[in-house]
Amino acid sequence: MKKSKIGSQIFDSSKLLISQNSQFMMREAYKSLRTNVSFSLPGSGSKCIGVVSPTRGEGKSTIAINLGISFAQTNKKVIIVDCDMRLPTVASKIKIKSRPGLSNLLADTEENQEDIIQHLDDYGLDVLAAGDIPPDPTPLIDSKQMDDLIAMLKERYDYVILDFPPITMVTDAMIMSHLVDGDVVIVRHNSSEFQKISETIKQMEFANAKILGFVYNAKNKERKYYKKYYKKGSSSYYYYNYYKKPKQ
Ligand SMILES: Nc1ncnc2c1ncn2[C@@H]1O[C@H](COP(=O)(O)OP(=O)(O)OP(=O)(O)O)[C@@H](O)[C@H]1O
Ligand SMILES: [Mg+2]
Repeated sequence: MKKSKIGSQIFDSSKLLISQNSQFMMREAYKSLRTNVSFSLPGSGSKCIGVVSPTRGEGKSTIAINLGISFAQTNKKVIIVDCDMRLPTVASKIKIKSRPGLSNLLADTEENQEDIIQHLDDYGLDVLAAGDIPPDPTPLIDSKQMDDLIAMLKERYDYVILDFPPITMVTDAMIMSHLVDGDVVIVRHNSSEFQKISETIKQMEFANAKILGFVYNAKNKERKYYKKYYKKGSSSYYYYNYYKKPKQ
């Protein structure tokens, strides 16, 4: 397995990725997300979790990476797979190679997984980048190779976290819904539209996808309280909320 040395300074330099130095509220928010996801998927055995949202830029990749880091902090074996083979961002966010990756593994079964999966030493976390961007990712997503790959990853890891492209724009996440134990749906403060959220839920229900809950991303309404009681200073922080889907 190739090692990508990710120094903690890289994570520290990005306030959006959690590290020991992240602000209290952010670390607590991710602990709470991790706990809620675990409670929503009870039982032993490895879990495959999808991270989805209605449209672009709502925080899926950021939250997928942080959820992975958060699980790895509890000594779980974790891999993050960038399943957005159209506009992948996981590799650039954590400063690793973007190729070869998932597309190469799926297109060429001769490729060695051990050479393509990258290990982040500091976090005990593995990442499968998206790889070379294929002209049409759909046949790769909807393939036996994909089914076999996810099954193999579930044998090797406690948590397989899939970062997907937006649900209302492409069907990739829904094509793969049978491989996923449950999805976390990201909606973003001042950005996600009600109609798109509603469309997302309908599509997920149609595909029989299990919604684990919603993360309300980038809301900082308790900032004053936080600054007053927990920390002096003026740096900003990011607030995530986890909501369970209401019972029907
Ligand atoms: N809580 C937050 N506060 C501030 N900025 C954020 C927050 N979450 C994400 N961002 C920023 O918003 C942008 C979009 O985030 P991200 O790439 O994680 O979204 P995405 O849903 O994966 O987008 P895409 O669908 O294009 O892949 C990035 O620049 C990211 O750094
Ligand atoms: Mg993304």
